[in-house]
Amino acid sequence: MTTFAPVLQLNNGVEMPAFGLGVYQSPPEQTVPAVEAALRDGYRLIDTAAAYGNEAQVGEGLRRSDVVREEVFVTTKLWLTDYGYDEALRAFDHSLGELGLDYLDLYLLHWPVPSAFDATVASYEAAQKLLADGRVRAIGVCNHAPEDLTRLMERTEIVPAVNQVELHPLFIQRELRDFDRRNGIITQSWSPIGGVNRYGSNAADQSTDPLRAPAVTDIAEKYGKTPAQVVLRWHLEHSLCAIPKSVKEHRIKENFDVFDFSLTDDEVAAIDALDGGRRGGADPASVRLDSFS
Ligand SMILES: NC(=O)c1ccc[n+]([C@@H]2O[C@H](COP(=O)([O-])OP(=O)(O)OC[C@H]3O[C@@H](n4cnc5c(N)ncnc54)[C@H](OP(=O)(O)O)[C@@H]3O)[C@@H](O)[C@H]2O)c1
Repeated sequence: MTTFAPVLQLNNGVEMPAFGLGVYQSPPEQTVPAVEAALRDGYRLIDTAAAYGNEAQVGEGLRRSDVVREEVFVTTKLWLTDYGYDEALRAFDHSLGELGLDYLDLYLLHWPVPSAFDATVASYEAAQKLLADGRVRAIGVCNHAPEDLTRLMERTEIVPAVNQVELHPLFIQRELRDFDRRNGIITQSWSPIGGVNRYGSNAADQSTDPLRAPAVTDIAEKYGKTPAQVVLRWHLEHSLCAIPKSVKEHRIKENFDVFDFSLTDDEVAAIDALDGGRRGGADPASVRLDSFS
């Protein structure tokens, strides 16, 4: 019998699985089988982005699967080079075409651009239009600090449904989570098992890998689970939505096998205490329209 993730209700009533497959850095040729495997295992959320270069393969994986379109929650993101109202509408059409879908479940702005905030606002206004036109079921943002969200909400009509941010035991974002919760925004965790600390600038420093932290490995041993499963369970205990990436079938299955145990309050607190307050990825405050190009 297939197990499914619990669902979270977004601020417009749409339901989103609290767990999904991320595909950042999934090579196109490995993305189709990864999506197929995930859907077979019970995943019902796939998180891609225009910038990942694999929207077409996500769409192909969906089509090859037995799971019907309506049962899968598909997210993609607007990239910085397409910020602006008309540009964002065109980019959305392009993403939808790549995916081969006729609607999207969630469309996210990939980064705030504090130095070009008018472009951020214009892009979000385009997302509002797509929502009004029924082309996407929910809209939101990524990497928005409370001050970015405050600025955005002052100038736009619809409160983002989701804020997708770097979040793992070494960077637990307590203040941001509280802000999101107070404003009815679901926080979604990228790099939920600390991937950015393994492939990013911290890669050489094993002390920043949450999967090696004794607080995590001790709990893993207690429950007969892997460190990744314990960390993913920690996200669920915090009512976060985690989107771990893997292109390996056995890890895709392993990461989803987290619905048959739970952590005590003390265990959650022990993992919270790993927080070093240091992000592994880019600082959103410094992102510009030509960043990453
Ligand atoms: N909005 C944004 O700005 C943003 C930024 C980054 C990421 N994201 C999203 O978040 C998703 C997840 O984040 P992420 O890819 O950065 O990091 P992650 O999911 O925390 O970690 C992925 C890394 O860990 C490995 N891995 C997967 N399962 C594992 C396991 N059970 N044990 C040990 N290692 C494991 C993967 O390698 P293998 O593939 O070889 O298994 C990969 O190198 C992305 O794919 C993307 O969808 C969004």
